[in-house]
Amino acid sequence: MRVGILTGGGDCPGLNAVIRAVTKSLLRHGDAEVIGIADGFAGLMEGHVRPLDWRAVSGILFSGGTILGTSNRADPLATPADTERTVAQARALGLDAIVAIGGNGTMSIAHGLSAHGLAFVGVPKTIDNDIEGCAQSFGFDTAVGTATRALEQVQTTGQSHGRVMIVETMGRYAGWIALEAGIAGAADAILLPEIDFDPDALVRLCQARQRQSGYTVICIAEGAKPRGGALTVERVIADSPDPLRLGGVAHTLRALLEPHLQSEVRATVLGHVQRGGPPTPFDRVLATRFGHRAAQMVLAGEFNRMVTLDCEVPGAPLGSIALADVADRTRQVPANHPLLVTAREIGVCLGDDARPSSVLPSPVP
Ligand code: F6P
Repeated sequence: MRVGILTGGGDCPGLNAVIRAVTKSLLRHGDAEVIGIADGFAGLMEGHVRPLDWRAVSGILFSGGTILGTSNRADPLATPADTERTVAQARALGLDAIVAIGGNGTMSIAHGLSAHGLAFVGVPKTIDNDIEGCAQSFGFDTAVGTATRALEQVQTTGQSHGRVMIVETMGRYAGWIALEAGIAGAADAILLPEIDFDPDALVRLCQARQRQSGYTVICIAEGAKPRGGALTVERVIADSPDPLRLGGVAHTLRALLEPHLQSEVRATVLGHVQRGGPPTPFDRVLATRFGHRAAQMVLAGEFNRMVTLDCEVPGAPLGSIALADVADRTRQVPANHPLLVTAREIGVCLGDDARPSSVLPSPVP
């Protein structure tokens, strides 16, 4: 059989590990031919492909990015003509199945194309960790590690200068990176897209900490916004299926806080630093398991489903979910998530605290 592999959406540590595992698993099956599709759905629309053999996928486990290239702009469902062209290309290439490695957007497109007779197996990818039905996507662990190190690094300046240090993570519609990195990086406040923040509560937190320990570290997801306020949009990319690019809410927050504080406030936007670099060992293992599972699904004819991890424990069983149940959905941090409860209980401000005393119950010795 002929199997295509594409990577769609933003790049992510671990993509190459999936490509390697899918290809090696399928080649070991003997009669499978593996085709790499360039630049995600853009390459499928244009028929830009190359064969993937054992040599092509050797030595790529450690590297970030994707050897196939990717795009978060191409949308074969944009017009009926685009859809027709894409389906015709896939048929001309003789693809019996396509392994689509990507996030919410990629799964939605794969689901849409499956209605036109193409056979997909989805592999969940995103540093944001916001794909419906999957407890953890590869790339998330690496991004959390990067953001955590950044939070550790800014503690030094916060402490030495008595400043408020704000670190902005990625996470458009879900705050998983900010939540985990914020806890691991000892942030005093963690602000998520799921909980609109009250600037006054943060002012009170910073003032209390200024009196008691002298400095404050705030971790904010790019998709967080003040109560009654708007998202901080960095740019709008008109021809993208998801046109909003966020970024800079750390500066929005700095401007809200600074007039009310004696301390200086500094903002750091981590941006794509979180998407780069080699995947952590955890992500290499998860991506390899996902790739192997995707190949098994192809061989078993389990099409138009996405590989899933059922719970966050290492070694937890893999399952699968229908693309129809993934498409157009986002897995946000639920209000009762145990990590939110833990954060609150240890005194982390989530931006909605009414009483500053609940944040700092007693002076720091
Ligand atoms: O969805 C992953 C993500 O990294 C988001 O967190 C971020 O908002 C977006 O991609 C950035 O996309 P781009 O690379 O197009 O700027």
